[in-house]
Amino acid sequence: MNEDTGKTSDGSGQAVTPAPKSVYLKTFGCQMNVYDSERMMEALAKDGYAVTDAPDDADLVILNTCHIREKAAEKVYSDLGRLRVMKDARRAAGKDTVIAVAGCVAQAEGSEITARQPAVDLVVGPQSYHRLPALISRLGAGESRIVETEFDQDEKFKSLPERSPQRMPSAFLTVQEGCDKFCTFCVVPYTRGVEVSRAVADVLAEARRLSSSGVREITLLGQNVNAYHGADAGGAACSLAGLIAHLSRIEGLERIRYTTSHPRDMSDDLIEAHGNNPKLMPFLHLPVQSGSDRILHAMNRKHTAQEYLEAVARIRAARPDIALSSDFIVGFPGETEDDFEATMNLVRSVGFAQTFSFKYSARPGTPAAMREDQVAEEVKAERLQRLQDLLEAQQARFNAAQVGQTLPVLFERKGRHPGQLVGRSPYLQLVHADAGDEMIGKIAPVAVKSASQLTLSGVIAQA
Ligand code: 5AD
Ligand code: SF4
Repeated sequence: MNEDTGKTSDGSGQAVTPAPKSVYLKTFGCQMNVYDSERMMEALAKDGYAVTDAPDDADLVILNTCHIREKAAEKVYSDLGRLRVMKDARRAAGKDTVIAVAGCVAQAEGSEITARQPAVDLVVGPQSYHRLPALISRLGAGESRIVETEFDQDEKFKSLPERSPQRMPSAFLTVQEGCDKFCTFCVVPYTRGVEVSRAVADVLAEARRLSSSGVREITLLGQNVNAYHGADAGGAACSLAGLIAHLSRIEGLERIRYTTSHPRDMSDDLIEAHGNNPKLMPFLHLPVQSGSDRILHAMNRKHTAQEYLEAVARIRAARPDIALSSDFIVGFPGETEDDFEATMNLVRSVGFAQTFSFKYSARPGTPAAMREDQVAEEVKAERLQRLQDLLEAQQARFNAAQVGQTLPVLFERKGRHPGQLVGRSPYLQLVHADAGDEMIGKIAPVAVKSASQLTLSGVIAQA
């Protein structure tokens, strides 16, 4: 195949366009999976695949999966059951379908997946996406049930094709993968491996490509992004703050965000950057998980509630208007009503702009799953409800406080109503405003007129 034209030669020197192949990809879970899905699609597009939104039209179906909680992993198997029926129907109509499972379920369960659902042809872990086109060729050549779950984090980024032009003005860019923290509830260190940072030059090259294709905002991704320590040109370790300083010199790139951070790695230089780098947006996702020191210790979080509050105080001193976000787990094994109340108190004293909260889900192979003091499902559900009521009220209050303010909004896409666009405020709030399509990809001041728990609405203000 000719890389540049996507055409094959039939040996007569005459170029022949191959029969079009189509791919359907469904992404579960976190933003890193969204990024990985985009990169997989770019690799497959180079290989002649066209994207389809209809799985029953697809020659290749990929599920990019999440293993973080049981519910997410089980959803994959119910989807696979439906795909098996679809594959049989297509075969009866004379069409082949390749079913591939990618992502963290692939990494964690490997050949158990093909054993449980024999319709699956390919299992490919997150570090092997660059091999996807070659693996599919092997299937075409007669191999079956391939399981590829090698760990080679560096190779993946080096071997994926360069970023294609983007459709959206806001893009993800993975700079760090894996985690060495081993929180006792979490599968990430097992599915994504040890912490690895990409080299500064590679990140900058990818960011420049994104920026020159119209991207105005980049969210740097990593399971522990603030532990970033990629090599700079001289081979020395560069911190996330250092990386952000380099990125903010890229012309056309207006906004920089990063996620997810660990409280232990909130370094002084990163906090300082929030105070003095106008391109670094005033939003921080800093998971705390619990407000009880006893539970934080059992979770192996390596910080206390007080240390979390101190980190928040330092960040607010540098950037008083910063919007704070967090993750919470309720019903971790052994959690008492007092422990839960400590979480509620921490939430009351911080005041969050937006959050994610979950019932604890026992994950196979993690230390907490082995504990005998698991919390009853009804208790978890009831605590989650109380926590979410409080968090939703805080989010509504945070949004309501913007009414009457004028905020710079980066418009990302059309809204549901004709003539309406949707964008993001610096604080990551969704903002609706009437504007022409030419405003997509531009930042404009919006006078906020109303707010709900999830969104703001306003009108473009005269400059
Ligand atoms: N059960 C419930 N929530 C979990 N998370 C991670 N592992 C589990 C689990 N076993 C949550 C944490 C983490 C977020 C990405 O998912 O809050 O920060
Ligand atoms: Fe999982 Fe803890 Fe690592 Fe976050 S810091 S990815 S919760 S082990």
